[in-house]
Amino acid sequence: MRRAVCPGSFDPVTNGHLDIVGRASRLFDEVIVGVLINQSKTGLFTVEERIAMLREVTASYDNVRVESFRGLLVDFCRAQQASVLIKGIRAVSDFDYELQMAQMNIGLAGVETLFMPTNPLYSFLSSSLVKDVAKWGGDVTPHVPDIVREALKTRLTPPPPA
Ligand code: PNS
Repeated sequence: MRRAVCPGSFDPVTNGHLDIVGRASRLFDEVIVGVLINQSKTGLFTVEERIAMLREVTASYDNVRVESFRGLLVDFCRAQQASVLIKGIRAVSDFDYELQMAQMNIGLAGVETLFMPTNPLYSFLSSSLVKDVAKWGGDVTPHVPDIVREALKTRLTPPPPA
């Protein structure tokens, strides 16, 4: 069984993430989307909310499942019996840090990293940018699945004055 992990924060999932997950699902028998539980950083969405959105938008892929992890990514890979990580590369600027992490991860546990060039449609996209645009009322329709757009609207709309 060839199993790969697509790790990330996914706060929230974007169409760029989905493109990578979908393409990975055609290359591997099983793809596990690993959502990092980062206790030192509060996200816009809880890990449970991120997982729920990810599960909904990946439901059409029968070889993709979504799990959370804390601690080292290589330990999660070992627990999932996956020996390959898939990382999307949007631009050369992603490469420096991704290369460091890939080299650390292979040194730590022999986990390989495969870099997948992002679809140019999404090469400028990040969860942070999407959150910023949505926060100020910009249209994020082309960048995220509909359920994520609605969740952003709900989360970022200030309550009416009392
Ligand atoms: O979506 P992100 O926030 O860019 O994803 C970063 C992620 C989750 C891939 C990275 O922070 C990570 O691997 N964290 C787990 C902790 C770990 O293993 N650190 C050592 C990396 S070499």
